[in-house]
Amino acid sequence: MWQWLIRGLPLLVIVTVMGSLTFAQQSVFTPPQGTQIAVEYDSLYTFLLWASLISCIILIGGMIYFVLKYKRRTNQDKTPYISHNMFLEFIWSFIPLVIFMGVFVWGWIVFHKMRAMPENAVEIHVYGRQWAWDFLYKSGKKVTNEFVVPANTDVKLIMTSEDVLHSFFIPSMRIKQDVVPGRYTALWFHAEKTGEYHVFCTEFCGAAHAQMLARMKVVPLKEYEEWLQATDENLTLAQKGAKLTNSKGCVACHSVDGAVKVGPTWKGLWGKKGYPMADGSQVDVDENYLRESILNPNAKLVKGFNGVMPPYQGQLTEDELVALVEYIKELAN
Ligand code: CUA
Repeated sequence: MWQWLIRGLPLLVIVTVMGSLTFAQQSVFTPPQGTQIAVEYDSLYTFLLWASLISCIILIGGMIYFVLKYKRRTNQDKTPYISHNMFLEFIWSFIPLVIFMGVFVWGWIVFHKMRAMPENAVEIHVYGRQWAWDFLYKSGKKVTNEFVVPANTDVKLIMTSEDVLHSFFIPSMRIKQDVVPGRYTALWFHAEKTGEYHVFCTEFCGAAHAQMLARMKVVPLKEYEEWLQATDENLTLAQKGAKLTNSKGCVACHSVDGAVKVGPTWKGLWGKKGYPMADGSQVDVDENYLRESILNPNAKLVKGFNGVMPPYQGQLTEDELVALVEYIKELAN
């Protein structure tokens, strides 16, 4: 008997994990439900989980039970000849059919709500690129990797990519959509709670795909309108540089805390003497080195890194270059 207990243990573990997962799914295993549709989505998901769990127990449990009950014990045992059983076959076809049709209709209703774009929504244009998210508002305001939306308002995202295939995913809103170069795709949501939510790229898009993250702030309508008006006229050069590292996507590959990412960290970079290059030479990090490395990264490739950084020649103004260098200077210590 104990042998069967040991053999049944994996099943017991699966049942326990799935059961607790279902009970605890809101708090532990899934992100907070940011919209009403997220709640409906989770209900369907929970139903599917339970239906699978129960079917699994009936099927595997039944199989084990019959294997034990009818196993051949002596050589005299004969295998009975059974061709078919009309009633049983009808039952095990019809019941799943009803369940599947129910799931189809349920799924279609939720999917339709997710995909039917509301009229009069606040529209925000989203650009995906290697490796950052840009957000362009109707007012002309453009931000990168951190955007703000009003609470209790329909928000529609009109998305496209500047280079390769990306995918825009806000787990808390339970919405995800491919972001495709050369065409527009759209998502919408109606956020009910204020707060900060994660945005991920969920389509492998190159070296820094994993760092292609954004943050969405849901704020009251009034705060959103104030934010839209705000400008950054009176920032220092270094502060402008810091903003640029976001909007140009630098932060996907370069850290400011010493962590090694796809590219070398900027912490303590400024003023470095004898910085080792891939070709065995050494450089002193000054304005000219930084300028060259931004505009033409492969001219002097740092030892231990791949030449994956795109050249920024022609993509930055002189003011922006100076701001970036000033920012990197501030990270010397
Ligand atoms: Cu963009 Cu992965």
